[in-house]
Amino acid sequence: MSSYSPYSKVRVGACGYTTDGQYVVGANVENASFGLTLCAECSLVSDLIRLGGGRLAAVSIVAGDEKPIAPCGRCRQVLYEHGGATMLVDYGPDEPARELRELLPDPFGPVDLDSRKSS
Ligand code: THU
Repeated sequence: MSSYSPYSKVRVGACGYTTDGQYVVGANVENASFGLTLCAECSLVSDLIRLGGGRLAAVSIVAGDEKPIAPCGRCRQVLYEHGGATMLVDYGPDEPARELRELLPDPFGPVDLDSRKSS
């Protein structure tokens, strides 16, 4: 797994599977200005768009020890945009995958903008 994580030394990789059968991948990319770090999930979404877009059916996010890690709060929102409430998040072989709706209840999404746009 490729990752740029010289500061935290936590390597994170993400793999997604789209509803039309395409794999997309990402890795965390840190920055000397720590707050500018890009999580692996953000990088995965960039890959999705680079490859032409689509909807994410499932994602798996793992650290360098190859064990699953839960997506951070910001990434739950980023993933929601491209996978929606039923997108599956892998929790490894010993736990059932969870739908994103469980990890991000009462989400804010594109439909919340539609009714609020001024003319
Ligand atoms: N990280 C991710 O890539 N995804 C997450 O959902 C949680 C955290 C990264 C960011 C940083 O490079 C490292 O893990 C330690 O926080």
